[in-house]
Amino acid sequence: MDISVLDDAVTPFTKWVGGKRKVLKKLLPYVPHHFETYYEPFVGGGTMYFTVGRFARRCYINDLNEELINAYIQLRDELGELKRRLSTYIYDKDFFMEVRNRDRDPDFSNSDPVDRAVRLIYLLRVCFNGLYRVNKKNHFNTPFGRYDNPKICRSEILDAVSEYLNTVPTEISCTNFASALEGVDKNSFVYFDPPYYRVEYSSFTAYQPGSKREDPLLQQHLHEVCCSLDARGVRFMQSNSDCEAVRKLYADFKIVELKAATGMNSDTSARQARSELLILNY
Ligand SMILES: C[S@@+](CC[C@H](N)C(=O)[O-])C[C@H]1O[C@@H](n2cnc3c(N)ncnc32)[C@H](O)[C@@H]1O
Repeated sequence: MDISVLDDAVTPFTKWVGGKRKVLKKLLPYVPHHFETYYEPFVGGGTMYFTVGRFARRCYINDLNEELINAYIQLRDELGELKRRLSTYIYDKDFFMEVRNRDRDPDFSNSDPVDRAVRLIYLLRVCFNGLYRVNKKNHFNTPFGRYDNPKICRSEILDAVSEYLNTVPTEISCTNFASALEGVDKNSFVYFDPPYYRVEYSSFTAYQPGSKREDPLLQQHLHEVCCSLDARGVRFMQSNSDCEAVRKLYADFKIVELKAATGMNSDTSARQARSELLILNY
């Protein structure tokens, strides 16, 4: 796909860990020209969805993060009320802490969905670096960020996101990535942007619940899903970290190295920090 599609792409409503904004120009030339259905099972902030989803007849976006998916749904269905409430939120550390700590209430997940969406959008606007981070209890724990008069309710962006969600036929789900791919066929295009393979776990193979060793398990499962899509003639593209484990896992597919920065460096760790991989089956 031509990078000129960026000219009228919709801006995501939030920053998100692993967001693709900076590498999008390098990814677009690898996106197929035609597809009827678009699947993004690790959608996060949705940079790719908001850029290329509109060229599909129908989109299927998914993420395991319930707060994020709730925000997509409320932006689609309750824009006016969401903006009205968000515009009453202020940039103040005590207020931020009160909003941040709402998820310590055991009933938080049953609380008003518009309030939850407003909370997420607000926190990511004013927390340190716009970083979504939770502790083991799933409590948001990024500290307050220092900004000069940040705009909390960016009306134009929220309006455009809401219009996109309402006009580009989109199914939104909150499940494990594999379950979000049930309807794929030969006219589908799937873009995977999973949590990246962490280079330091490359040697772990055992699964231990609750430990960081789950990481290779997700990667193994993702590899199986990609092989199954390939066997069924479904086109997929995956972003992942540049490490030996990923190169080995996808040795049978096309692998493109995307350099994120300029300059030469023979040191492997420096190279890994500055490049990522794109895996394709077409
Ligand atoms: C690298 S981020 C995606 C970034 C996104 N492409 C963007 O532009 O903002 C990975 C996402 O995968 C989600 N995730 C992690 N494990 C998952 C799973 N098993 N199934 C579905 N989503 C998952 C995370 O919540 C996170 O939003």
